[in-house]
Amino acid sequence: MSSTAPTIPSDLAAWCVANDARAQNELFAFLRIPSVSARSEHKGDCLIAAQFVADALTHIGFRADIIPTPGHPIVLGEWRHAGPDAPTLLVYGHYDVQPAEPLELWTSPAFEPTVRDGRIYARGSVDDKGQLYLHIKALEAHLAVRGTLPVNVIVLAEGEEEVGSENLEAFLQREQQRLKCDAVVISDSTMFAPGIPSILSSLRGMAYLQIDVQGPAGDLHSGMYGGAVVNPAMALARILATFHDADGRVAISGFYDHVRPFPDNVRAQMRALPFSEAGLMHEVGVTALGGEPGYTALERLWTRPTCEVNGLLSGYTGEGAKTVLPAISMAKVSFRLVPDQDPDTIARLVREHVARVLPIGVTATVTALHGGRPWRADLQGPIIDAGKRALQAAFGREPVITGEGGSIPVVGDFERILGAPVLLMGFGLPGENAHAPNEWISVENYQLGIRAAATLLDEFAVAFTMSRG
Ligand code: BES
Ligand code: ZN
Repeated sequence: MSSTAPTIPSDLAAWCVANDARAQNELFAFLRIPSVSARSEHKGDCLIAAQFVADALTHIGFRADIIPTPGHPIVLGEWRHAGPDAPTLLVYGHYDVQPAEPLELWTSPAFEPTVRDGRIYARGSVDDKGQLYLHIKALEAHLAVRGTLPVNVIVLAEGEEEVGSENLEAFLQREQQRLKCDAVVISDSTMFAPGIPSILSSLRGMAYLQIDVQGPAGDLHSGMYGGAVVNPAMALARILATFHDADGRVAISGFYDHVRPFPDNVRAQMRALPFSEAGLMHEVGVTALGGEPGYTALERLWTRPTCEVNGLLSGYTGEGAKTVLPAISMAKVSFRLVPDQDPDTIARLVREHVARVLPIGVTATVTALHGGRPWRADLQGPIIDAGKRALQAAFGREPVITGEGGSIPVVGDFERILGAPVLLMGFGLPGENAHAPNEWISVENYQLGIRAAATLLDEFAVAFTMSRG
C-alpha cells in the first residue's frame, strides 16, 4: 500500500464535479420506479427497475444481462478488459425497495424524489438505489475520462434483497465460474455519523417465521362463547409472551447455544465510538431503551441476537366495537442472529418451543418464511486497505469500524461460495428512515459516495498488485 495520503484522482474528481447534477437526475428516474419486491402487483415495476439498471450499465460500456429467477430478475453487468493480471471486483446492490406504506405519513410522495435540506427523499433513496447507482456513476467516471477501468468489474444487482434474497444463493452456486472475483464491495449500510466514513465489520443474520393459531372453526359471538372457548388472539399473546424472560433475554431453549462472543478488541473498538444512548432515544422518539441485560445499546444492536414481533393480526380492528371471538390469529416474528447461529436451527427451536407452550384448545403452525446467515468480517487484505484509503480520500478522514444490526443475506454467501472477501462501505446516515416513511439519502453523501467508489477502483488495483508482491 502506498504511504502517501490518499486523494481522489484529479481527473475523476473533475468529472464528478461536472456530472453531479446529471448523476442526481438519473437517480431520480430510478427512484420513480416503484420496485416493491414484496408486492405481486409491482412485479412489472421490478422488471422495469432491472431494465433501468441494465440500460445504465450498457450505456457506460458494460455488457449487461437480465437473468430471470423464480422471483424478480437479477441484473449482471460485466466489463472484463483490464487484462489478465488485473483483479476482478464484484459490486453488489439491490434495486428492490420496501413497501412505502403508510403513504399518508410521507411529506412528499414516496416515488416522487424531492430534495429538502440537502436530502433526497424517496423510497429506496438510500436503501439501496442511491447506494447502488453511485457505483455505476463511479464506473462511468473512469470509462468517460480514461476509456478504461483499472480492474475487471462485475455488477450484480438483485431484486429480492428486501424479501430475503431467496433465489440468489442458487444463482451464485450455478454461476460460480462467471462470478469468480477477488473481492466484493457493497454499499447498502449507514455511516456511524455525518462526516465519519465507516466500514462494517458485522451483520446480523435472520430467521423470519410466521405463527398461525387456529381456534374454533369460525368466528364466534364473544358473549355466547367467550369464557368457554379458548380465544386464539389471547393464546397467541400468551405464546409470544414466553419468547422473552422478564429481564429481556430470549427464553427459547437452546437459542444462545451457538453464539460466539465478539472478540474483546472488537468490543473495545465499539465502546470507543462516540455513541450516545440519549441520542438514540431522541432519534427514535422514546423515553427509555430496553433489551438484554449486561450489554450497552450498541452491543445489543450489533453483537447480540434478538426476537422481534414484526406484525400481529387477529379479530376486529375496524372502526368502533365488534364483539367477536376470532377463529384465528397470526404473528410475523423475526429473529436477528449472530455468529454462529443458524437460521434453520433457530426455526426448529422456535417450533419446538411453541409446541411446548401451546395453550389447550388451539393449534399452531410455525412457517419459516426466509433466513440468512450472520456475518463477521476478517477486515484484512487489499480490498479493506483500498476501502480505507478510498473513504479517507473522499471524506478527508479515516473510516471507523462499525457493526450493524440489519441483515444482507447474501454477504456470507459471497465469502462461502465465491471465496471472495467483502467490503461493506455504506453512505447512509442515522435517522435515514430506511423501511419507514420519508426515507432519505444525503445529497453530499451521494456525491462523496461516487468519489469514494471511483477512487476505490484505483486503490484496489494498486493494493491487489502489492499484495501479490
Ligand atoms: N440495507 C439493509 C440492511 C442494512 C440496514 C444494513 C442498515 C446495514 C445497515 C437491507 O436492505 C435490509 O433491510 N435487509 C433486510 C434483510 C431481511 C429482509 C432478510 C433487513 O435487515 O431487514
Ligand atoms: Zn438494503
